[in-house]
Amino acid sequence: MRVLKDLFDKNEIWAEKIEAADPGFFAALSKQQTPDYLWIGCSDSRVPANEIVGLMPGEIFVHRNIANLVVHTDLNCLSVIQFAVEVLKVKHIIVCGHYGCGGIKAAMENGEHGLIDNWLRNIKDIHRFRQAELDFVQDPKKKLDLMCELNVVEQVSNVCHTTIVQNAWKNKQDLSIHGWIYDIADGRLKDLDVCITQADEIAETHRLK
Ligand code: CO
Repeated sequence: MRVLKDLFDKNEIWAEKIEAADPGFFAALSKQQTPDYLWIGCSDSRVPANEIVGLMPGEIFVHRNIANLVVHTDLNCLSVIQFAVEVLKVKHIIVCGHYGCGGIKAAMENGEHGLIDNWLRNIKDIHRFRQAELDFVQDPKKKLDLMCELNVVEQVSNVCHTTIVQNAWKNKQDLSIHGWIYDIADGRLKDLDVCITQADEIAETHRLK
C-alpha cells in the first residue's frame, strides 16, 4: 500500500505542470546539473531555498541544517562546499539565516534539549563573542533578530576560512560568499552586505599562505 498518497498525487501534478510548460525539462536536467549557487540555510520548513528565490530544480545546490551553521568539523557541510566549489564550480555561496530562528532562540536560553545542545553550543559561542553588541538591545525579539543576523555574518566567515574556498580564490576561481537573512513574516530577503570575494577580505589569522 502506498502511504502518504497525497504527496505522491501532488508530485504527479507538479511534474506534469513543469513538463507541460517546458517539454523535455527533466530529460535535459537528468544529464547534468550546472547550478551557479550554493545555498546554506536553516532546516526550518518555512525557509525553502528554491521557492524563496524562484529557482527551478538544477539551479541551486542546497545544504540545510539547524540554524544554518558552517562548523569546521562538520564533514557533511564541508563535503557539500567542496563538491559545490570544486566540481560544480558555483560562483556564489549564499549563507541565508532567518528571523525568529528556533535554533538561535534555544541557544540564547539555558534550557536542556539533549543531543542538539552540542550543535547549539556553536551559537552560544557567537553569543558570548558578541555579548557587548547584544547587551545594547533590550527588546527580546530585537535581540533574537540581531543574533540571527550576527550568526549569518559568523557563518560567512566560517565558509571563507575553509581551505576549500581559500584554495578556489588562490586558483583565481570566481567565487563570492554572501550573507542574507529571510523574514518568515513577509517572505522577503535582506542582504546583510557582508559579501566576500577574495582572501584579502578575511581576518589575517585565518588567511592561508
Ligand atoms: Co531556523
